[in-house]
Amino acid sequence: MTAELAAPAPAKINLTLEIGGARPDGYHELASVLQTLALADEVALRPATARAITVEGPFAAGTPADAGNLVWRAIDALAAAVGREPEPFRVRLVKRIPAAGGLGGGASDAATALRLLARRWPEADEPALARAAAATGSDEPFFLAGGTALVGGRGERVTPLPDLPAHGVVLFAPRETLAGKTAALFAALDRDGRRDGFERSAALARRPPARLTPDALFNGFERVAFECFPGLAALRERVEARIGEPVRLAGAGPTLFWIGPPERTERVRARAAGLECAVIATATAGSPWRR
Ligand code: C5P
Repeated sequence: MTAELAAPAPAKINLTLEIGGARPDGYHELASVLQTLALADEVALRPATARAITVEGPFAAGTPADAGNLVWRAIDALAAAVGREPEPFRVRLVKRIPAAGGLGGGASDAATALRLLARRWPEADEPALARAAAATGSDEPFFLAGGTALVGGRGERVTPLPDLPAHGVVLFAPRETLAGKTAALFAALDRDGRRDGFERSAALARRPPARLTPDALFNGFERVAFECFPGLAALRERVEARIGEPVRLAGAGPTLFWIGPPERTERVRARAAGLECAVIATATAGSPWRR
């Protein structure tokens, strides 16, 4: 079979992200309620004689088109998990998710590659996929599930939740990010010393509201992100002044997001037009794998 395997790889936002202390292995214990969005990359795999990768789309810049791409790491991790040689693929990525923005694009591409490989490798069962996802990175296990989910551990403990009612989301993605920013933000939190409890994520998972309000949202990275990313505090002020509502940090940033009733999405997007960032209107979306 040489047909191309293709599927969307959605972006995510963390509705809550509570960060505990550093563990002996250097990772941090987390509690987070994650939500996939309609905004998605596209991942396509075609069997080939040698490995190749092409990256296209509006956010192709900043995505590694070489062995450093997480899709390769995921393919190798799944091959190792099922004990087979990784066969060569031609990978095509269409990047519609801003790279290194806190929206999980690279991790989602990797998890989608795992789901596509499972269609081709019969021995790639759910436990093998989960092992390969956790070996690839901390957001990958969530993206194997998608939709709305409570995540714990360093990201590998995923409890799927009922789909949240549809919300509109507008993303404000600065054009500049920082190299190694996730590790840098965790290190800044270690210096800051405060640790989050995990009660907000547990409460949101237990009683998901029909309409999310700003007080249900939380991101522990906000303690340090506005000092770590130059210009981000000023951007947040300008966005909030334009739209007249609070915005939050997406994951480790620097993307900011608004979430609210779907019918307000277009007005929020229009009010932010012309700001010095990419403004992307989208919405929450259920899992691409559960439909
Ligand atoms: O695992 P992943 O590659 O997604 O994480 C990037 C970096 O973020 C890790 O190298 C680690 O420094 C940090 N991290 C952490 N605790 C987590 C997840 C990530 O300290 N739970």
